[in-house]
Amino acid sequence: MKNISIYLTVFILFLTFVACQNENKKTNDPVEEKVQNLLSQMTLEEKLGQLVQTNYGGEPDNWKEQLVNGKIGSFLNLSGVEHANELQRIAVEESRLGIPLLIGRDVIHGFKTIFPIPLGMASAWSPEYAEGAMAIAAREASAYGINWTFAPMIDVTWDPRWGRIAETSGEDPYLTSVLGAAMVKGFQGEDPTEDGRIAACAKHFVGYGMSEAGRDYNTTYIPETKLRNVHLRPFKAAADAGCLTFMSAFNDLNGVPTSGNYYTLQTILRDEWNYNGMVVSDWASIEQQIIHGYTETPKDAALSSIVAGVDMEMASRTYDNLGELLAEGKITEELINERVANILRVKFKMGLFDNPYTDETYQNTRVLTNESLDYARKVARGSMVLLKNEEQTLPLKKSQKVALIGPLTNAPHDQMGTWVFDGDEKNSITPLTAFTEILGNKLNYAVGLEYSRDKSKAGFAAAIAAAKKSDVIVFIGGEESSLSGEANCRAVLNLPGIQDELLNELSKLGKPLVLVVMAGRPLGIGEQIAQADAVLYAWHPGTMAGPALTDLIFGDYSPSGKLPVTFVKGAGQIPLYYYHKNTGKPTDPNNMILIDDIPRNSKQLSLGFTSFHIDYGIDPLFPFGYGLTYTTFEYSDVTLSSNQLAMDGSIEATCTITNTGNCTADEIVQLYVRDLFGSITRPVKELKGFKKITLEPGESKVVSFTVSPNDLEFHNGEKYVIEPGKFHLWIAKDAASGEYEEFSLDSAI
Ligand code: BGC
Repeated sequence: MKNISIYLTVFILFLTFVACQNENKKTNDPVEEKVQNLLSQMTLEEKLGQLVQTNYGGEPDNWKEQLVNGKIGSFLNLSGVEHANELQRIAVEESRLGIPLLIGRDVIHGFKTIFPIPLGMASAWSPEYAEGAMAIAAREASAYGINWTFAPMIDVTWDPRWGRIAETSGEDPYLTSVLGAAMVKGFQGEDPTEDGRIAACAKHFVGYGMSEAGRDYNTTYIPETKLRNVHLRPFKAAADAGCLTFMSAFNDLNGVPTSGNYYTLQTILRDEWNYNGMVVSDWASIEQQIIHGYTETPKDAALSSIVAGVDMEMASRTYDNLGELLAEGKITEELINERVANILRVKFKMGLFDNPYTDETYQNTRVLTNESLDYARKVARGSMVLLKNEEQTLPLKKSQKVALIGPLTNAPHDQMGTWVFDGDEKNSITPLTAFTEILGNKLNYAVGLEYSRDKSKAGFAAAIAAAKKSDVIVFIGGEESSLSGEANCRAVLNLPGIQDELLNELSKLGKPLVLVVMAGRPLGIGEQIAQADAVLYAWHPGTMAGPALTDLIFGDYSPSGKLPVTFVKGAGQIPLYYYHKNTGKPTDPNNMILIDDIPRNSKQLSLGFTSFHIDYGIDPLFPFGYGLTYTTFEYSDVTLSSNQLAMDGSIEATCTITNTGNCTADEIVQLYVRDLFGSITRPVKELKGFKKITLEPGESKVVSFTVSPNDLEFHNGEKYVIEPGKFHLWIAKDAASGEYEEFSLDSAI
């Protein structure tokens, strides 16, 4: 708070600049003209009303009066299109200025048709699916009068303990940026006024994914270089994609709560990026600055956030103090005008003034359509990752007798995953339903464990009996949906309950064992993976989990998902991510002495001095980008059009991929680059591009990527730089494979 008067002075100067800019815009920007015109008619009370976002459920019943008096700008958690229309009607027809409402809701991975959790969707590495799925989510949500979602969540995380990893696109800033921008496009379309579109919200700004110990809401410390090179990148991409709103986060960042953080909200978002959308706080995060120990009173908290750059306050009511702060001269009316303008601009851009109501028949015609369900099945199929397939255990034959066992075999609620407010489990098609349809009486079903944390062995005997009379065992286990998501963090990354014991029993039967994992996070389950012959990581696949799974298990399609996050062997390896630094003593994988091999009475020096754990070594359980198919792909002839890249030029990197197996499959081809020397140390690899191709057996395709100097930019703590020097380049199937080619970036133009 000590710096607040400095910030205020800087801010007032900035506002003068903005005001001049707005003057200029007045003449040539129709939206800006409407915003300024409306603003000029508003009383202070009406302006402050626009900054309020009320939780519908928690509000006292005088909301009608508040709406008539223009005291609410937005609702969240409101359900029912009739309700939405009624509230809009009061706001539009009964309030003095008729300003429509933003009606927000967490539509995270689907509305009624539930798609895989975002981490699952990210495993498809498909901007096309991300956009298509969110377009369906938007169309369904808008049929219920919702015009704003709090998605995409584009926090980058390295921590599978963090429950909210389920909501992310994983560990990589590039993949998260591409998918985040695609989701923004899916929600908003090219033109957010189009029928069926809703406003998107890039959240949580910023750094929330680094919550210490993977414990939700925890403190974050992120140096400038990491903030810029990792965490801000997806948000910049979302801003560039036209994302209409941003959400400030819960975490304190380097000692300053992100909902009162002038540096991130004003200096970076507004001044550097020229973002003119609106910022909403996360739930009561303005008020929580008091609990953080950053501000003493609700009034201080309001001052901190209004100055830093939060336009709308979600759930708490500290902004009720803004009138007083204005009267005391602590803030100016120009500052309030700017905050209100940011909100009105979104309402105009969404076309809400022209079209505030929703056709109430849409709720019957636009949700859970056959097309939406087919699309959800396709996306779920694309999101599952084949981690292991010894001796081609998969695909199974439809003539085989299959034992279907495990707590997620028939869990219509849990298969939808976290953050599902509107999806209904009665629409879920479970694996049990899908397997039964295909196998009829060749299916031997026994759940074994009722739910993922079940510790009763009562079902073991029936499960073992079912397995004994079958040709193959399919065990579907993992985590219930409530074990991931907000606040639901874990310190142990195992299969909960006694799933390991049941798997152990099943593995002794000498039958092929297929392990399917439905979970909200990457689990460190190396032992269970070792026991299984084939492993399919399905995340929480959503409404169409069953059919998507049988599509793959019975070989109608080949798995094509790739991991968007490194799998650790156990929590002790965290953080482990592929774009780490080399260190001064990198591991030599051929020269590691692990704990059981250390001779007794060894002298310290005899073990070598490199960077690894003596119990886990250095490798992950599975690397970033990893995923198998039912065929095999050979990568050959990685070629660069030149080994010299000019500062004003580009080079083409190509690679031939051949399907050397015997079924048609998709492959996600990945481009990585390493900058060998820099003004700060550089990661050992960074993803710079990817392409999905489909190859028939025997077919080859040449995949090509363009690399230009802009792709090599990074922030060195002082500024963004593109530094000449040597680079390595890989075109590979994952972050741990392939041979590199070398090129140089020349300083001369
Ligand atoms: C979450 C946000 C969410 C908001 C509204 C908060 O607790 O952190 O991601 O959008 O609630 O439901």
